[in-house]
Amino acid sequence: MKKSINILAVPALTLLLAFLAPDHLRPAEKKRTVVGSSVCASCHAAESIGNQYDRWLRSPHAKAVLILKTQPALALAKKLSIADPAADRKCLACHTTGRGKVDKTKDEGVGCEACHGPGSDYHEFGRHVDTVNRQGAYETALKNGMYPILGIKNIKKREKLCLHCHTKGRPCYPVLAEDIYRQTISLQVISELRKGDLNLKHQLIPPFPQY
Ligand code: HEC
Ligand code: HEC
Ligand code: HEC
Ligand code: HEC
Repeated sequence: MKKSINILAVPALTLLLAFLAPDHLRPAEKKRTVVGSSVCASCHAAESIGNQYDRWLRSPHAKAVLILKTQPALALAKKLSIADPAADRKCLACHTTGRGKVDKTKDEGVGCEACHGPGSDYHEFGRHVDTVNRQGAYETALKNGMYPILGIKNIKKREKLCLHCHTKGRPCYPVLAEDIYRQTISLQVISELRKGDLNLKHQLIPPFPQY
């Protein structure tokens, strides 16, 4: 009699604990994964909400893997004894989403989730969107793994994110002073990014929430 109670009690207790555990401790949400920019595009390619996908597609970030197939990349790779930079994690670590460890995003370049965080838990509508309570939706999104990089209040965190890849320590850091200067300048304009015709800003339609 005693035994049968125990058998029932153990799974029930486990279930109860899993239910009571805070969001970030739930086993299913522990390991967030990237879903790929094409998943974000299913909604964010719509003009009605700002078509961030198209803005991104025309930005250098979308070409970050392609650039690994160019002559300067191959020359650098050769010096470092890397056979194929577009397939090597030493380069893909910063030139694509998921640090080159995720097959489905290996070719997409620096995609949405490289900056906004792995989307497995927040990409669904109800988990990051509420057109009435936008502030609330953003907070839900953050709990579900979205990185806090939006708005002026988060500018320091955003800078940290950018500098994580745009670091002096990278193997492709330029040697010529003018290249160093050009790259520093382009990073200084961190919230209003323009490079020629390439607009790196991809805003939503107003009114904007105050983060
Ligand atoms: C089911 C459709 C849908 C999908 C899929 C989707 N989004 Fe969204 N997302 C929206 C809508 C709608 C908004 C809110 C637009 C508005 O309020 O103007 C939004 C807002 C956002 C915001 C702004 C949040 C805020 O609080 O202002 C970010 C950042 C974002 N999405 C990133 C992503 C990323 C990255 C992905 C892919 C991992 C993604 N979204 C997938 C529909 C979607
Ligand atoms: C720590 C992150 C990081 C790693 C690792 C990295 N890159 Fe880069 N790479 C960058 C960033 C950031 C840029 C963009 C710099 C800019 O234009 O401001 C870049 C730009 C480049 C460029 C364009 C240079 C230019 O002057 O426009 C080439 C080519 C390149 N990387 C090749 C490589 C190769 C090959 C590897 C592997 C051996 C590699 N990168 C590894 C971050 C990285
Ligand atoms: C290089 C990093 C980077 C990439 C890649 C990127 N974003 Fe963003 N995104 C940002 C930053 C930074 C902001 C905040 C802009 C601001 O506050 O002016 C932002 C803002 C947004 C917003 C909210 C705009 C607003 O006005 O509130 C949405 C929606 C969004 N991004 C979706 C996407 C989607 C979808 C993709 C992929 C197609 C993507 N982003 C790719 C950095 C990035
Ligand atoms: C995952 C790594 C990664 C992150 C995070 C990242 N970048 Fe980049 N960025 C790159 C790479 C790689 C390139 C080079 C792409 C190319 O030239 O095709 C690049 C290119 C650029 C360029 C074009 C520079 C030039 O000289 O042509 C600008 C501007 C830029 N990034 C700004 C930002 C900003 C601002 C952020 C933060 C919101 C950011 N990046 C976050 C990797 C990253």
